[in-house]
Amino acid sequence: MATRIYLVGGWNGGAGRTFTAAHLACGLHLQGRRTVLVRQTHSGSPLMIDPFETTLPLPCCELRLTEPYMLPPDLAVGMTTMIHHADARFISALHKLALAEVGSDGDVVVDLCSNERALNAATLRDAAAILVPARESVFEIDWAVRGFAHVRDTQRYRDFLIPTLVATIAPDSRRARQAAHLSGLLRDCDPDCDILPGDPSEVIVQVPFLDEATLAALFDERPIWQDPELQARCLAFAEAVAERANAFMTMMLEHADEC
Ligand SMILES: Nc1ncnc2c1ncn2[C@@H]1O[C@H](COP(=O)(O)OP(=O)(O)OP(=O)(O)O)[C@@H](O)[C@H]1O
Ligand SMILES: [Mg+2]
Repeated sequence: MATRIYLVGGWNGGAGRTFTAAHLACGLHLQGRRTVLVRQTHSGSPLMIDPFETTLPLPCCELRLTEPYMLPPDLAVGMTTMIHHADARFISALHKLALAEVGSDGDVVVDLCSNERALNAATLRDAAAILVPARESVFEIDWAVRGFAHVRDTQRYRDFLIPTLVATIAPDSRRARQAAHLSGLLRDCDPDCDILPGDPSEVIVQVPFLDEATLAALFDERPIWQDPELQARCLAFAEAVAERANAFMTMMLEHADEC
């Protein structure tokens, strides 16, 4: 098996990228895979307290998104977009880091920053799966749907296919309502089913939800990841990501056959 890169991305602050990436990295690590969690930073990233680096039982690193190319201001928008999507400097640096941290057969989970250049085609193209987190409010779900549509459009226009999932974050009692909102918005933004030919529930995967006490313990840098119940939920999450990713590919390939 070769190195697998899981991207967790989206554009709104506080979307749940860091938590989703941490849970997935923990689950993959518990599956016995050599796993590294990479936090993508950019020149404007604020310094932050990171309880994951000090508590997770696996290596955590930072890797900076490269500065944008200096392009002539009068360059056509289409050309600027094309150059930006072809910029492979971050993904090349990520491959080098992965080799150093987990060798040629490990898992890399990348907590992408919210910079618009983070989800470019060159980075997406190498991923085993892409997760766009969605928290509970309608605004957060709307942002997640925009992120999902952007990732799918980027693939469609360049003719490559990567499993693209929405990672939902909510307490169990409110998951059904969240899934209904999410499915509704996914259908509304894609009436002809171009970006998603199947049932929206097919691309939803549930992130383990931490209650208030566990969140407080995490921010206190206590070793929450040693809790067997949380470990079981992280493992189930990693398994669900693999299962949904396979189902996504099957759905898309069946749809391509029908067309
Ligand atoms: N799985 C979860 N269980 C419980 N709460 C969560 C979970 N995921 C996210 N949250 C809540 O959402 C907040 C923001 O999550 P997170 O820091 O992962 O977002 P982010 O997208 O990485 O934000 P930033 O833009 O600051 O990088 C957390 O501080 C936490 O309160
Ligand atoms: Mg974050």
